[in-house]
Amino acid sequence: MPEVKTPVITYTGINQQVEHHDLDTTLLECSIMNQIPHIHECGGNGQCTTCRIRVMDGHSNLNPRTLKEQETARIRKWDPSIRLACQCYAKGDVSIQRLVWINSEINRLQLETIPEGIAEERPIAILFCDIRGFTKLASENSSFDVAHILNRFYTVLGDPILINNGVIYQYVGDEIIGLFGVSGGMKSKNCKDAVRAALGMQYAIERLNHIELVDFDVNIKMGIGINFGRAYIGHLGHPKHKQFAVVGDPVNTASRIQSYNKEAGTDILISDAVFKSIPADTLDIGRSFSNQMAGHDHATLLYELFGFKDMDIQLELQQSLDYLLRNEDAFASKFYDKVFTKAPEARALFKNNMASQGRLLTHMLGGIVYSMSRPEHLAMGLKLLGESHVRYGVHEAHYPVVLECLMETIREELGDLCNDKLLSAWKQALETVTSEMRRYAK
Ligand code: HEM
Ligand code: FES
Repeated sequence: MPEVKTPVITYTGINQQVEHHDLDTTLLECSIMNQIPHIHECGGNGQCTTCRIRVMDGHSNLNPRTLKEQETARIRKWDPSIRLACQCYAKGDVSIQRLVWINSEINRLQLETIPEGIAEERPIAILFCDIRGFTKLASENSSFDVAHILNRFYTVLGDPILINNGVIYQYVGDEIIGLFGVSGGMKSKNCKDAVRAALGMQYAIERLNHIELVDFDVNIKMGIGINFGRAYIGHLGHPKHKQFAVVGDPVNTASRIQSYNKEAGTDILISDAVFKSIPADTLDIGRSFSNQMAGHDHATLLYELFGFKDMDIQLELQQSLDYLLRNEDAFASKFYDKVFTKAPEARALFKNNMASQGRLLTHMLGGIVYSMSRPEHLAMGLKLLGESHVRYGVHEAHYPVVLECLMETIREELGDLCNDKLLSAWKQALETVTSEMRRYAK
């Protein structure tokens, strides 16, 4: 009998080849088993599309598209080379490229559901953020410095939009526009995501002023306006240069709300439509204003936003994540030292290189914070992670040890930033994650 050759999977981006011994496992599972980072937000359930790959070679060695894949490919107009790794089984050599590399890219995938050539009316929350005080900075510094600082602004102000499941629509001069709910979802969630993004942006500006720009003698301020309504969304423009566009009265109103901050002496204003979409008593609100916007025959009620009334776990986690993981190798090695001191027998479970294992863990922590804005995916993702840990030989008693070590590492790494609220937010989030994973443990 001819010898059956074990399929080889080639990952083109990182030029790595692995043997795929278990033909009953998917290409996503093959990545996980070989410690190759492969984003899979819904845990391999064919729901999130984040595990998507481009098949560079060996297409005929894969199963045909599953029903879930066919539907996804139709809506997103994928060519036949794009597949979901969690739906692919290989019977021979295949060469693939992972298409989503970082968590912040996941949001842009929403844009694939937007129609080509026509505009469709969709209910969305729209956030306009204007950076003030930038002119002074621009006039007093070299264009090189200004370009560098502007890029920092775009990054630190864009991150809160992305981490809250929003899409960055445009940068216009000193203005950033974010959209929430482009591909659907509950209006209360979309408005709350926009509000959380605004609060995250406010915190980011404060940190930038006090740390990075401390030598520039400037005090950058910002004004944010948020509105909710039905706007027209589509890929529009010249047939050879179509671009994503969103138009309509709710968009113009959001821009005017942002401008009204100057007159009102406020930092963040939300419209009545946003206020009413979020459950009563959730928001910490200051003054309210009745304002007649240009082109409207009625007054719009605006509210000054200070924050959430109760602790918002996601906001707390988001504000500490980049600081916590600023040196991810140090975080991971500190954490594993603690685990192996408290549970020495656990050392034998780790078969792979500890440096890459550490990066996977910190990548996963970031992934958890990002995917909290898509809770339906998080639960499914944790099921797969819980099941894979059973295969690694992890048992129930390991979870409290790991939780304790993670909390100790977080407390130490947060240093001066550490406070009870932040620790409580991390504890609650990690308890949810570990208890979900633990359900599958022996
Ligand atoms: C907060 C809870 C935890 C998270 C977020 C987490 C995260 C991860 C991730 C992302 C991987 C990479 C492979 C995969 O995706 O399956 C992994 C592997 C692994 N984890 Fe965890 N883990 C957690 C708890 C634990 C616990 C309690 C143990 C027990 C000591 C453990 C031991 C391992 C082992 C042995 C591997 C495989 C390493 C290897 O093959 O060398 N993990 N973990
Ligand atoms: S679609 Fe494959 S992991 Fe979500």
